[in-house]
Amino acid sequence: MIPAVDGRLVILAVLPVSLVVVTALRRFTENRQNKPSLPPGPVPLPLLGNILSINTKEPWLTYTQWHAAYGDLVFVRILDQEAVVVNSQRIAEALLDKRSRIYSDRPYLATLEPFGFSIDFAFMGYGDEWRLCRRLFHQTFRPESAVKFLPMQMRRAREMVVNLIEDPQHYRSHFVTFSLSIAMSVVYDYQANARNDPLIRVVDNALAPGLAMLTPERAVLLKTFPFLLKLPDWCWGSSIKRDAQLSTNRTTEMMDVPFRYAQQHMVGAYCLLTMVAENLQRLERQDQESKPMLETVLKKAATTAMIGSYETTPSTLMAFALAMVSYPDVQRRAQTEIDSVIGSDRLPMFEDRASLPYVESVLRETFRWHPVAPLGIPHAISSDDIYDGYFIPKGATVICNTWSDRGISRDEKRYPDPSRFIPERFMDVDGALTDDDPAEYVFGLGRRGCPGRYTADASIWSAIVTMLATVNLSPAKDDQGNVIDFTPQFTTGLTQYSFSCVIPSYCH
Ligand code: HEM
Repeated sequence: MIPAVDGRLVILAVLPVSLVVVTALRRFTENRQNKPSLPPGPVPLPLLGNILSINTKEPWLTYTQWHAAYGDLVFVRILDQEAVVVNSQRIAEALLDKRSRIYSDRPYLATLEPFGFSIDFAFMGYGDEWRLCRRLFHQTFRPESAVKFLPMQMRRAREMVVNLIEDPQHYRSHFVTFSLSIAMSVVYDYQANARNDPLIRVVDNALAPGLAMLTPERAVLLKTFPFLLKLPDWCWGSSIKRDAQLSTNRTTEMMDVPFRYAQQHMVGAYCLLTMVAENLQRLERQDQESKPMLETVLKKAATTAMIGSYETTPSTLMAFALAMVSYPDVQRRAQTEIDSVIGSDRLPMFEDRASLPYVESVLRETFRWHPVAPLGIPHAISSDDIYDGYFIPKGATVICNTWSDRGISRDEKRYPDPSRFIPERFMDVDGALTDDDPAEYVFGLGRRGCPGRYTADASIWSAIVTMLATVNLSPAKDDQGNVIDFTPQFTTGLTQYSFSCVIPSYCH
């Protein structure tokens, strides 16, 4: 039997206990409510995270599918790395641009230093060395300064077309020479030969194998097992160390050889407009102590221009060539515009640009159709943040998916039938250009947005207008005159991708 207890005593005993429990419960639920959750995303596996679900060749396709399932901001774990994928232009602007103070760092990449790519300031953390490099770069490549390179760019575009006509099979190599010869002229005042140039070969020797070695798999391997770089040569697994050493030797050569050329040839007025010569002159006025450091920064900024030019402009021209081969009507319409505005007595010049809206829309559609860096270069966030009620932890990688179907390049509403090449989408009913310019998103955003943008845009415009005015791009034919079928192959690099196909060119 339970002894009878006075009800008032029970209340007195239970009340304080209940109060403690209720307060604790309230705090617990308040805490849960106040602590924002991470953005939604696929359920990660222990240790591996979501890595097995990501298409490693074309990761932007996976991120675009996840957009449908989880929304504009998707939280992903790639092994032990937290990442946020931004799938909408509005959020990309809100974070990378408006909050650029904390969204301008870069994630750590274990391959950069060992393979000799820490010279590229595009991958540097958000610190003083990056700031100095970026300032030097900006002085040369800002729009007001870049206009003085236009005549040289047009000359190089015409030279590239001569190469295409004389040697049509090696079109990709001519695009690379074109892009690098412009960067070398702007940075080192080096006038490369139209073909087989020794300094272009130095850059190609460093970047063709070097960039291919910076695979995400190698980065993960070195991050997890850094001792691999210390294994003796005879030991199994030491090949990565040898590859790293070879790559470093070549990138060092790429940094030193053209720089030496510029130091030894600082004569003439044009030379003093170029990046290295102009800044070497400034360095003369610096104190002896800071000179070596500033010279290294200048070398890095100069080399970054080579690396920045190596895949981007050529891959965009490859996308343009593929579009012309696949959509001959577009090529014809652009040629008709050039013929009617300029006639056939002279070649196009930059002064004609505003009078050629269809050519401009072809350029815009090329940028949109196959952006060369669909995921840009990943950013990293340098302190905790909350966006739209979601928690974004410090150190997370922030990936902007330009391929996204939400307001960016593959958005069905903004670009109906987005996989087709339709330049007309950038023109209104009167044939005038609309305000929609993909250059606003393909060059990235915020403080890390592409500083080579204006030079790249002018190079690509000069190349495509000159090609349209002088050659027909058409598929290769066999001996019987039948078109040889081809499938474009897209190869993913660290930041860019390109494709290969067969395109001979003919005078039209
Ligand atoms: C079609 C041509 C090009 C495209 C589409 C392109 C695109 C990009 C993108 C998406 C980024 C990353 C932006 C971000 O982090 O938000 C970038 C960065 C950069 N680009 Fe370009 N680029 C092109 C050509 C060039 C050229 C020709 C140069 C050099 C002359 C160059 C130099 C750079 C540099 C130095 C950075 C790193 C900026 C930093 O981290 O502060 N780019 N580019």
